Amino acid sequence: MTQAQPAPASTRAAFAHLAALAARPGGTRITPLFAADPARAERFAAHLDDLTLDFSKSSIDDSALDALFDLAAAADLEGFRARLFAGEMVNVTERRAALHMALRAPAGAAMRAQLPGGSEDAAALSAHERDRMRAFVEAVHSGRVVGATGRRFATVVTVGIGGSDLGPRVATEALSIGRSDTPMQARFLSNVDGHAFADTVKDLDPATTLVLIASKTFTTQETMMNAAAMRGWIADALGEGAVAHHFAALSTNLSAVAAFGIASERVFGFRDWVGGRYSLWSPVGLVIPLAVGWDRFQAMLDGAWSMDVHFRDAPLRRNLPVLLGLVGVWHTNALGCATQCILAYDDRLRRFPAHLQQVEMESNGKRVVLSGEPAETDTCPILFGEPGTNAQHSFMQLLHQGTRVIPVDFLLAAEPDHNRPEAHRALAANAFAQAEALMRGKSEATLREEMAAAGMAPAEIDRLAPHRVAPGERPSNTILFRRLDAFTLGRLIALYEHKVAVQGCLWGIDSFDQWGVELGKQLAGGILPELTPGAPAGAHDASTTALIARFKALRHETA
Ligand code: F6P
Repeated sequence: MTQAQPAPASTRAAFAHLAALAARPGGTRITPLFAADPARAERFAAHLDDLTLDFSKSSIDDSALDALFDLAAAADLEGFRARLFAGEMVNVTERRAALHMALRAPAGAAMRAQLPGGSEDAAALSAHERDRMRAFVEAVHSGRVVGATGRRFATVVTVGIGGSDLGPRVATEALSIGRSDTPMQARFLSNVDGHAFADTVKDLDPATTLVLIASKTFTTQETMMNAAAMRGWIADALGEGAVAHHFAALSTNLSAVAAFGIASERVFGFRDWVGGRYSLWSPVGLVIPLAVGWDRFQAMLDGAWSMDVHFRDAPLRRNLPVLLGLVGVWHTNALGCATQCILAYDDRLRRFPAHLQQVEMESNGKRVVLSGEPAETDTCPILFGEPGTNAQHSFMQLLHQGTRVIPVDFLLAAEPDHNRPEAHRALAANAFAQAEALMRGKSEATLREEMAAAGMAPAEIDRLAPHRVAPGERPSNTILFRRLDAFTLGRLIALYEHKVAVQGCLWGIDSFDQWGVELGKQLAGGILPELTPGAPAGAHDASTTALIARFKALRHETA
């Protein structure tokens, strides 16, 4: 573990206090806390209806919890939360509100987004566009909107990347895996890699394929190239006139969409107070109701809104996103953990870690605070994850016995949506066992006893004992809920969105911009023409120049 670091003025003392608490003798141990407090499991957990966040398997005791709330007070978390919901421009570098909550708010909810020159009714705008989306979805499902040949659409392909891909994809998958009642098949084309395009269309019939171009900016290179490829695929098969029938666009950049040739009734818009990684609730998520039905999409929005209301109104000490954020800060800043693992014991959430990687790392992967000064604390940990139980047979070895401590979030539904209860019990047993094993570990003394009882020779026991010791005292949260229905999916995604906002506030950074991705985009734009056969080399470092030359030499392409 790395050393905890000092923080900027207002929160510096609070961060230092956390580090001091973690540095107490035994300050990172968990099991003694259970021995000392029979009520720990109840006291270090919070609930929203059937949804439970159990953070008792952490080294946070009462004084650490108080210190975390002292940090929240020092960072004015309550003031930040109020400004966020008031639609203030909390994205300070881009002068934008972060009001994705308005997308799931009921029509008529008073939510205004502040703009540089005024404000607008974000809830009303969202409701209006939602009504248009619903009308379109119903027209597609009923066969009133059909392809150029008059055949009904069977497949919807979403072309988009980053937030215009991951959120819609995780939601669509979570709500359709294992179900046979979904109205349309969904595919996603994100990577500019031509193999991805080939794989997306390989067994599709253009006559029954609806294409959604999802891009907030409508300038993203990968998406624009894939949109052109899809357009060519439709036009080659059905004629140029078919494009108007087979395409819709989801964007804030209405003029660029018009230039692409998509008619305004097929364009679903949103505003720049919706960040890309929060856009699945906007028209960018149009694939979700097309693929799983409007009612499930609406239930997802309702679930997210219930988490919004909880985050907005619940006292900090019972507030799930606040607690999840504070526990993460304890691990990142007091214990110096550099990573965070997400283990959803639910195959339908197989892309959830990928979505969270963007939500968390693009939001909080920052090195300066709002003033522009260097952050004195570590910020976002590196996220990774896989569905359980698969992860147990790949990287969990390192979590149990590696040299680094990696906190885990376990996610588990109590009830499955299949009729094999024994399989679900096995899944759940593994989730509980992994969390318990990480915390309890297995001591050398116990192992020696067990091996001796099994009749192992003393020399063999000496040889194996150190390899078999699991140190334990490794932290995890468990997020348990009744069922992974659309409502709960919405709650879960919103829970993590708000957790990220909480942590951004505590670290004093802008969670809603993403300047770090720009340089690579610029350089790629410059290198692209150099890769044309015969094109002159640009000015690069020696390594890049040599690699570009070798790449061109290895290709058969001619000028
Ligand atoms: O490159 C990062 C990013 O800007 C993300 O923030 C965004 O979700 C993604 O690209 C796609 O952007 P767009 O929706 O504008 O195509």
